[in-house]
Amino acid sequence: MTPCQCNPFLDARSTPEACLAAPLLQSLFTMTQPKRALITGITGQDGSYLSELLLQQGYEVHGIIRRTSTFNTDRIDHLYEDPHNEGVRLFLHYGDLCDGSTLRRILDKVQPQEIYNLGAQSHVRVSFDEPEYTVDAVGVGTLRLLEALRETQQRTGQEIRYYQAGSSEMFGKVMEVPQKETTPFYPRSPYACAKVFAHWQTINYRESYGLFACNGILFNHESPRRGETFVTRKITRALARIVAGTQKTLYLGNLDSKRDWGYAKDYVRAMWLMLQQDEPDDYVIATNTTYTIRQFLDVAFGYVNLDWQNYVEFDPRYLRPAEVDLLIGDSTKAQTRLNWKPSVTFEELVKIMVDADMRAIGLTPPGEGEALMHREAATVRQDSSVTVDVAN
Ligand code: NAP
Ligand code: GDD
Repeated sequence: MTPCQCNPFLDARSTPEACLAAPLLQSLFTMTQPKRALITGITGQDGSYLSELLLQQGYEVHGIIRRTSTFNTDRIDHLYEDPHNEGVRLFLHYGDLCDGSTLRRILDKVQPQEIYNLGAQSHVRVSFDEPEYTVDAVGVGTLRLLEALRETQQRTGQEIRYYQAGSSEMFGKVMEVPQKETTPFYPRSPYACAKVFAHWQTINYRESYGLFACNGILFNHESPRRGETFVTRKITRALARIVAGTQKTLYLGNLDSKRDWGYAKDYVRAMWLMLQQDEPDDYVIATNTTYTIRQFLDVAFGYVNLDWQNYVEFDPRYLRPAEVDLLIGDSTKAQTRLNWKPSVTFEELVKIMVDADMRAIGLTPPGEGEALMHREAATVRQDSSVTVDVAN
């Protein structure tokens, strides 16, 4: 009998029947292995929530972090466990979207089944100050990652699904209200232009090479982990200090722009859902509601019985050379096809953030937001652990 040479799951004594069953055995083996995901931007707001979600789903999670002179892993430190322990499922690798050879090396080593490209210089105002860097990381960085993915997939023959973190900023000076997948883009900042480039590269790689690549067009999403210089967190953080008596004035820019604000934890679920579908596609993720910055201030300060007009002052340095005045999404496609919907309302989101910032500086918050958090909170599995795959 000729021994089977065609499959590593069979040994030399395998029968031809067993050889025929080999693909099935192989796929059973693959099914019992944890899925491996690679996340760029794992230290950011979304990266941290997505890591929690994937670990809860049983994934092995790999994240790319940048070398910094101070630690930048605050948002994922709660997932840390001694790397010498057994069962480690979260791994970090030093890398940068501006460094293509490192991206290739990481992909080669990790061989993920899913990649979530969340890394970005994500501050719109800052992108006017650092346009070249922003476009390099956000735009060309996406292209570098797609190329590394394409090459790895070609070499290994194993599909790698790709999620691109697109933005409602791409709609910019909006051509349609509300904005949906078919609304033309009109980007108004270096950041938004780079995201449009990344969006079309993702589609181009899907159509040219048959990659399973999806664009999420996500409207603003916030949380207690939101970066401190985005307007929502800037407000709730300042409010906590005002209540504590350690800050008197909050300086802001344009209070009239409107945003469709959702809860970040809901939004990372949508990212994951996109990669679990039979076909790759692009989806708007939004709450389909819109509020001005003034309305955010009303709800936040009103929640602790203060009048924001007594504390907020205008500072032109927070204006942008070009503003995006109105964003409101239509997420019907995601609601229908992904069965996704937001679980937190605007008022609830504001209360969650105010409570968290008050608690963070030792105050006792009103508590409505905390009650919601407890209701919504998904439990992070205790057994997840993290290790840095580099010499520190
Ligand atoms: P974020 O909190 O600003 O996090 C950005 C992440 O990207 C951080 O981990 C950051 O690392 C990393 N990063 C920055 N430059 C990088 C580079 N050159 N190479 C590799 N990584 C780099 O952003 P987020 O709110 O989580 O958003 C996640 C993604 O969704 C971003 O691409 C953002 O543009 C997009 N997006 C966000 C929203 C929103 O409302 N949050 C809406 C639409 C789209 P460090 O920690 O070292 O800085
Ligand atoms: N950051 C900031 N700081 N924004 C201010 C301030 C201020 O002091 N005062 C007023 N604003 C206004 C901005 O002019 C803008 O109209 C609005 O508040 C929201 O600003 P940000 O919170 O900085 O968010 P963004 O909408 O520009 O961008 C965020 O959402 C995008 C999705 O639409 C970021 O997360 C982007 O990365 C994301 O793509």
